[in-house]
Amino acid sequence: MTTCDYSIRLYKDSDYHTVRKLFAEGTLEHTRVAFEHGLSLTRVRLFLVAVFFVPFIITGSLISAIITFLLIFTALWFGTRDLYGSYVRHALSDDMLDIQKYYLQRDGYCFWVVESAGEVVGMVVAIPSSHPGGENHTELRRMAVAKSHRGRGMAKALCRTVIDFARERGCSAVFLGTTVGHQVAHSLYQRMGFKEQHSEFLQHPLAKFVDFKFFFYKYDIPTAKQ
Ligand SMILES: CC(C)(COP(=O)(O)OP(=O)(O)OC[C@H]1O[C@@H](n2cnc3c(N)ncnc32)[C@H](O)[C@@H]1OP(=O)(O)O)[C@@H](O)C(=O)NCCC(=O)NCCS
Repeated sequence: MTTCDYSIRLYKDSDYHTVRKLFAEGTLEHTRVAFEHGLSLTRVRLFLVAVFFVPFIITGSLISAIITFLLIFTALWFGTRDLYGSYVRHALSDDMLDIQKYYLQRDGYCFWVVESAGEVVGMVVAIPSSHPGGENHTELRRMAVAKSHRGRGMAKALCRTVIDFARERGCSAVFLGTTVGHQVAHSLYQRMGFKEQHSEFLQHPLAKFVDFKFFFYKYDIPTAKQ
């Protein structure tokens, strides 16, 4: 499929390092937004105020209060980064380890890349949905476009590729999950006609404290009569 100055094609082994990097960088770049979201919560602010004043009251030392505050603040940043980091580490050692075997040798699975001027600059995958009630659904995952190539409709084209794949397989819907940090992704999926379904916390000790959720979206594939 060719669109403008880029094309979408199936993954090849020579794309291996590029797609792993695209996925990892695209996911980790959301740390800042998720961290700011955490800082906007009243409970996190109260916690940080306590982290400053409790040592100050106990020791009477402004320096130790500042040091404690900075240490906890930094730990909170790295903790938020680990919310994404743990997700990336798991994916890189799971489905993104032997991509050919995981995605291109199994029914219902697929992996596409966007190529522009001979360079791989975007990716997306499809898998059979494992969510309850999603037996006849395809799941869209690992969507990422290189920063240098964003805003040119590549993600929309990748979305359409997954929707077409699901339709051709006779699926009734495409399902996906995204986090609070992926703000542009929310706009993208809404723009493509996905509807938000529900949200749930990531399995991580910090997730509830900083309100780190996955938001699930569904696109109902229109039937021929619609
Ligand atoms: C999300 C992402 C894939 C979008 O890629 P892209 O190729 O730039 O997106 P497109 O050009 O196809 O734009 C699709 C829609 O996204 C939204 N969008 C794109 N850039 C936006 C921006 N800077 N601000 C707000 N919305 C934006 C718009 O709704 C746009 O549709 P429109 O142009 O018709 O209004 C890309 O930003 C990315 O890789 N981010 C990091 C990884 C990530 O978040 N992946 C999603 C995981 S769920």
